[in-house]
Amino acid sequence: MPRFIRACKRQDVDKTPVWFMRQAGRYLPGYRKLRENYSLFELIRNPRLAAKVVEEPVHAFGFDAAIIFADIVLPLTTMGAEVSLKEKVGPVFSKPVRSRADVDRLVSGEPSKQLGFVYQQIGILKQSLPRVPLIGFSGAPFTLAAYLVEGGYSRNFESAKSFMYGNTEAWRKLMKMLTESIIDYVRAQVKAGVDAVQLFDSWVGSLSPADYSEFVEEYVSQILAEIDGVPRIYFGTCTAGLLDRFSKLEADVISVDWRVTISEAWRRLGHDKAIQGNLDPSALLGGKQISLRRSKEILDDADGRPGHIFGLGHGVLPETDPAVVGEVVDFVHHYELR
Ligand code: CP3
Repeated sequence: MPRFIRACKRQDVDKTPVWFMRQAGRYLPGYRKLRENYSLFELIRNPRLAAKVVEEPVHAFGFDAAIIFADIVLPLTTMGAEVSLKEKVGPVFSKPVRSRADVDRLVSGEPSKQLGFVYQQIGILKQSLPRVPLIGFSGAPFTLAAYLVEGGYSRNFESAKSFMYGNTEAWRKLMKMLTESIIDYVRAQVKAGVDAVQLFDSWVGSLSPADYSEFVEEYVSQILAEIDGVPRIYFGTCTAGLLDRFSKLEADVISVDWRVTISEAWRRLGHDKAIQGNLDPSALLGGKQISLRRSKEILDDADGRPGHIFGLGHGVLPETDPAVVGEVVDFVHHYELR
């Protein structure tokens, strides 16, 4: 069994597995070249080109897992949301959800029937990278709902939260629709052949533990419970205050960022969860020396305990020097576990 899957299951590994969010992206010359001729969504909708994008960093650096090339907002397009991607900003929604009527206008959507190009990409990658575990993914309901209500990225998510508090019934309807679409989507990915699923709840760290329990947790629980047969990774940022809540989720792996140490996160989560993380992507911008120093600290802190997947707390930044990425992967692979 590949070391990435073994680590998800907290089994012994020869070396700590390593992969990075956005390991395929703008820091790579091959990707930048493709983007001169294709928009992000054109690449995503083209299974052959998307598979090439996924393969480049795996071949270049020897990552232990690949992640499909898509975006968390993709399934929202099957629900009637109109989204465009603004360069260096992210998704922008032309008609943000601000009322019960706006929620009623959305449809549940069936990504399994509409996003065939994603499942074709998975089929290609299972043939072209037969020995590399492939991670499928979806956005998690809070993060997707937050985008829909805010209309784009927000620093504090005031609109999303005030909708959640003030229009609770509509909020619950929205979260339910998202939950159904997400389950349909990830199940189709599993059927197409992905070896693990990561649920991106990037902005969930903006919530208090009480809000998480009252307005979000049940939907995440339901999704995790309905993913069968492959390891489930739950990703968030700024989640140090929520780890006690996460310990109850049916996730196999919790992904944490650099604002908490691996050992502290494990204490809070309990040792029956695997942990993914948690180098600060900004460290890579600082060059080889600081990147390797921080990587060593993370590995020392994880202390060779089975169930650590080395990763970043967030995605690789476009300004990153690819050589530094290679150095970190090699360093992790040469680190002697006790
Ligand atoms: O990790 C990977 O390489 C897989 C591909 C992937 C993309 N988006 C492609 C993409 C993944 C896993 C995502 C997830 C995603 N998308 C998240 C969750 C993870 C996170 O970042 O917190 C979120 C919040 C989004 C929404 C999104 N899409 C944002 C905020 C942006 C702008 C980011 C930026 O750096 O400009 C995007 C655009 C996007 N999605 C890019 C890529 C490779 C940017 C590159 C491009 O424009 O070509």
